[in-house]
Amino acid sequence: MTMSGFDTLLPRPVSAETAPGACPWPVPVEVRTADLPAEGYRLHIRPDGVTLEAADAAGECYGRQTLRQLAGPDAFRAASIHNGPVELPCGTITDYPRFAWRGCLYDVARHFRTKAEVLRFVDLLAAHKLNVLHLHLTDDQGWRIETPEFPRLTSVGGWRKSSMVGRHDGPERDGRPHGGYYPVDDLREIVAYAATRAVTVVPEVDLPGHARAAITAYPELGPASETPWEVWTSWGISTSLLDPSESTLDFFRAVFDHVLDIFPSPVIALGGDEVPGVTEAHHRFVRAIADHLVARGRTPMGWDEVLDGGDLPKMVIGVWQDRERASLAAKGGHEAVLCPEDGVYLDHRQSDHPDEPVPVGYRQDLEHFYAFEPESGPHVRGVQAQLWSEHLDTVRRTDYAAFPRLSAFAEVAWSSGPRDYAEFLPRLRDHHLPRLDALGVEYRPLDGPRPWQTRPDAPGRPR
Ligand code: ACM
Repeated sequence: MTMSGFDTLLPRPVSAETAPGACPWPVPVEVRTADLPAEGYRLHIRPDGVTLEAADAAGECYGRQTLRQLAGPDAFRAASIHNGPVELPCGTITDYPRFAWRGCLYDVARHFRTKAEVLRFVDLLAAHKLNVLHLHLTDDQGWRIETPEFPRLTSVGGWRKSSMVGRHDGPERDGRPHGGYYPVDDLREIVAYAATRAVTVVPEVDLPGHARAAITAYPELGPASETPWEVWTSWGISTSLLDPSESTLDFFRAVFDHVLDIFPSPVIALGGDEVPGVTEAHHRFVRAIADHLVARGRTPMGWDEVLDGGDLPKMVIGVWQDRERASLAAKGGHEAVLCPEDGVYLDHRQSDHPDEPVPVGYRQDLEHFYAFEPESGPHVRGVQAQLWSEHLDTVRRTDYAAFPRLSAFAEVAWSSGPRDYAEFLPRLRDHHLPRLDALGVEYRPLDGPRPWQTRPDAPGRPR
């Protein structure tokens, strides 16, 4: 971002309502198209009004988001609590993103999020100029897409009878049914809502592992040896895989056709991660689904394990295990989205604080997120933070896990360094946390959890 003129700040009332929407935010601005990099914008704020030049619709959204930031934290409330005009500093800002893909994976399979909660999350992504919602819709623990051709996917696969609390090897479960799914029209609504905020929803149907909910609904999709099936009540990596037969392939071709009808995203995710005991037949199965998506004009996205199968069509690879795999992806002619487990996993614990709720995974505190330095290059489409939800059973827990680490990540995704955490921290504390407060986000306080944010009932498993 380049800013000029802010050394002669002239706070000046601009006649505007303070009630914000995400995009457009209703400051009266004159909008013009301009020759700027994709998603870029230029804001001229002068005593006689605001002009917004934008490369495209996304650039217009981001220009309006920046105006909202300049207007102060109360511009992030759901309704105005002040009378009178908003004051904006005068000057010029030219701004455009570093990466085309600035994503966040949202796992609605392990713990379902209501439609209203998903829409709220879209607003939070847009407020951070993130532009991809990678919606993880199916897993061992639940199937969340209404699929009329195969109704048991939701009537059976859409809920489980119980859940593990925290992370442990014991048989204890909470005894509480958990479930939910999105009717097709709700999914269409989420896609449309996101589009008006410059957010693309990339759906994921995970296979050939992470598919126990589907196998429970239709046991013929799984190995004959393993019965009876139930939607999984555990966390971890299940060894049960889809049977990579021609009839399973036909089933999932039909499922993906349904998904393509709902989601216009150019990229469609097919999973491919964590498949213990994977065989050549499973690799062929993944390749056949990838080919099917390509034949339908979309680009398949898979987790970096799919590279082990070789001979794939051009894909987007989610590089999560080992950063070297970005080069491997490039060698295969693919593009990489960098989302390393040791860098940007929002489910991992945020500190060694004894009260840190459900302390799983590696310690990835705020400074660690801010220090994430992704490689650039033509093979890197972008970056993505990952919000897996095994241990995030409510949206309050999600807020705690995501923020403010996702705010730090958003800055890395949008702008090139150099970065100085000592400079970032007061900016976050004094300017951005008040915005999150105004939005009603229950983020993790910088000095550790509030008593009601702790989870003494839920054991963790730190690494
Ligand atoms: C992953 O974390 N299994 C992609």
